[in-house]
Amino acid sequence: MSKNLKLLAKTSDDIKVISAHLQDSIISIEDIANLKKNRIFLMQLNRFMWEDVERGVFRKNKRIRAILKFENVINVSSKNIKTKWIERPFQGKTLLTHDIHGIPIEFYYQMDRLPTIHQKYKLYTGVKPLRIDHFNVFSINVDESVKFYSDLGFRVTEYTEDEKSKKLWAAWMHRKGTVHDIAFTNGVGPRLHHVAFWVPTPMNIIDLLDVMSTTGYITNIERGPGRHGISNAFFLYIRDPDGHRTEIYCSDYQTVDTDHEPIKWDLKDPQRQTLWGAPAPKSWFEEGSHFDKTEPKEPALKAQPIVAP
Ligand SMILES: [Fe+2]
Repeated sequence: MSKNLKLLAKTSDDIKVISAHLQDSIISIEDIANLKKNRIFLMQLNRFMWEDVERGVFRKNKRIRAILKFENVINVSSKNIKTKWIERPFQGKTLLTHDIHGIPIEFYYQMDRLPTIHQKYKLYTGVKPLRIDHFNVFSINVDESVKFYSDLGFRVTEYTEDEKSKKLWAAWMHRKGTVHDIAFTNGVGPRLHHVAFWVPTPMNIIDLLDVMSTTGYITNIERGPGRHGISNAFFLYIRDPDGHRTEIYCSDYQTVDTDHEPIKWDLKDPQRQTLWGAPAPKSWFEEGSHFDKTEPKEPALKAQPIVAP
């Protein structure tokens, strides 16, 4: 067996094999070349050696420089999205860009590692948030958002379709194996709808409600507590003093099974928003936080969800 892996694709099934070997590769834009005259497209990439995992080989360096060459290329298209290298504390070189609707996103290769703290219980305070679970954003075209993030490797777990137009009204997409890392809601966008913090149990949320309602923060409670039909999560939505929305969230389910079929919801199903039937208030569909240097626009889809009276 040769030391270096060489693969040749002649059929679409072969391409799937090469694609699997290229998962999690790192590519610099400078290392991509389209040789138009020769109809050759070349990429130099830093590839994770998945074949080592299969063979049970363990070595220190798990990555290798590799060349991907396409021949007889007729056309090359680009999303034409601006990118910029920046430096970020604790993660170094970071690729700053934005999605198709202007939401800023950053990609980084590695982050400084700290000791594990999940059993340092003395650090648990307040509602005891253990991690950021997901972001939810308003999108002017959820179908386009889903296409963009699918190309990045996100998968849809649940979605809401407008029965009339058959267009997506909302979608939940994940990478980490739970219901979502990012979700899209049809609306004036791009805007941030909420950031969700994951807590251990629904009791943490009940405790927070008792504290907020007796310490002058009752008007900051926007929606809940309740259980979402979508994601099955136990939730509470609160607004911080600047008006930004935060969700406190727990008890959704795992989606690591790649055969998990996305769950479809109808926009007019009252149990979609809340399994127990209570609809969300108007503010929940209309108010959101602006991203820096973006000008929100009206959504293409005008379908109306169920709104609390
Ligand atoms: Fe959420």
